[in-house]
Amino acid sequence: MSREADYDHVVLEARDIVKTYGGTRALKGVNFEIRRGTVTTLFGENGAGKSTLMKILSGVEQPTSGQIVLDGKPVTFASTNEARDRGISIIHQELSLAPNLSVRDNIFMGREIRGPLGVDYAEETRQTQALLDEMQLPIAPDTLVHDLRVGQQQIVEIARALSVNSRILIMDEPTSALAAAEVEVLFGIIRDLLARGVAIVYISHHLEEALEVTDHAVVLRDGTMTARDERANIDLEWIVRNMVGENFDLGSPPTGYEFGKAILQVRDLTVVDPENPERAIVNRLSLDVRKGEIVFIYGLMGAGRTELLEAIAGKEEVAEGDVLLDGASLAPLSIAERIDAGVGLVPEDRQRDGLVQTFDVGTNLTLASLTRSLSRGMLSRRREKERARDLIQTVTVKTSGPDQLIGALSGGNQQKVVIGKIIATEPRVMLLDEPSRGIDVGAKGEVFRLLADRARDGLAVIYSTSEVGECLSIAHRIIVMRRGRISAEFGPDATKDMIMAASGESVAA
Ligand SMILES: Nc1ncnc2c1ncn2[C@@H]1O[C@H](COP(=O)(O)OP(=O)(O)OP(=O)(O)O)[C@@H](O)[C@H]1O
Ligand SMILES: [Mg+2]
Repeated sequence: MSREADYDHVVLEARDIVKTYGGTRALKGVNFEIRRGTVTTLFGENGAGKSTLMKILSGVEQPTSGQIVLDGKPVTFASTNEARDRGISIIHQELSLAPNLSVRDNIFMGREIRGPLGVDYAEETRQTQALLDEMQLPIAPDTLVHDLRVGQQQIVEIARALSVNSRILIMDEPTSALAAAEVEVLFGIIRDLLARGVAIVYISHHLEEALEVTDHAVVLRDGTMTARDERANIDLEWIVRNMVGENFDLGSPPTGYEFGKAILQVRDLTVVDPENPERAIVNRLSLDVRKGEIVFIYGLMGAGRTELLEAIAGKEEVAEGDVLLDGASLAPLSIAERIDAGVGLVPEDRQRDGLVQTFDVGTNLTLASLTRSLSRGMLSRRREKERARDLIQTVTVKTSGPDQLIGALSGGNQQKVVIGKIIATEPRVMLLDEPSRGIDVGAKGEVFRLLADRARDGLAVIYSTSEVGECLSIAHRIIVMRRGRISAEFGPDATKDMIMAASGESVAA
């Protein structure tokens, strides 16, 4: 992305970094360097060690062995504060904001601006406002974080990292919850930072998007660097080949069977904005999904996809209309009763709705389907473990086993646990809200294969996405949502341009 990349100036070098966690060797001797005014992009499968390496460079974790060299001199960082004082900051993959604090307090946490009368809130508010303006995020500095959408939280994370004026900025999946326009804002900011000589490390599973900003690409595989090259010499195929060792394929719509009857019927459904009941977020929307059918819903952020899925799952209040399962209204049923009836939702925000961070992998996987872990009416730990092991296989979670704490899993593997948890409830209708967030290309293909297999057995799938490329895979039908309504419907032969045009997005020249 940088025009006059300063290729000679290495600001930071990691030499032979090893990191072990108990028996897991997350990094097996990685050499890595970062240059001034350039973007180094780190590619790799889920669990390859990308976040671990970045945590070591930013003082979150200490290496088991190896050396960090900053401006030619060996350094050690005992904490993130030490790294930050040396000009290194990180935007974490997992949102790390305190939900009960304001945006301003989150940005200045641990480094409050002090005046003669204590914390200078006015100055903090002013600086926060300036950052929010730069990020084009129209919220007030005193908004509580838990009132923000995931994407907005992610922008606040970015703003917090920008606020310290670092020389090295690490971005671990900064765009996973952002809309296209928000990504453009971020890329504009990245260009400014590069012009000021900042060195950036960028990690993303949106490969095409990442290529747009890449100057150098580095691929990690199983804790080892397997490839590196300059932007001019690489393309998407190079990345995928080096990441997963083969060409990947997101699959095609499963065929060879007839769809069953309409199992899910959405009838004139309206969901209104709780803050402004005049505004319909989902607007008199009707949709039928048949047994065995896979429907993808594409739309920009704010099109109403999340609200539609949450209304079907019972998490969002319905103002008008109805949702029927097997011809019977779901209106009287609670969220839990809908799960029992066979409606499973993989939520957008795994940190808040999907996982209990203090529990282990096994418990998280089986939590939503405990009745299936009963043995003679009693909860059987052994049965629960067995089920957990099966599920780990089914959704291919990279973990040491059911007893591992969920927080020790890589981001993409945590997302697979959320999917496994819903699979475990044996849904008849599966709703997935941007489930590929943080999942690598190989794993995405596995999830798609899994959904296609289940569809053959009669599962109805609604899969919401803002990545247009995903629509051209296993979908029998692609529905485009725009401002709460269905603006177009396509079969599997649609093109990216057709889908994007129907969403209101400008189609790139
Ligand atoms: N605190 C921890 N305790 C034990 N194992 C850990 C811990 N943190 C990471 N690991 C393991 O280290 C390996 C590398 O994980 P890491 O988070 O670096 O992967 P990643 O490349 O960032 O993957 P993703 O694309 O899914 O984010 C994984 O096997 C992970 O389970
Ligand atoms: Mg990671």
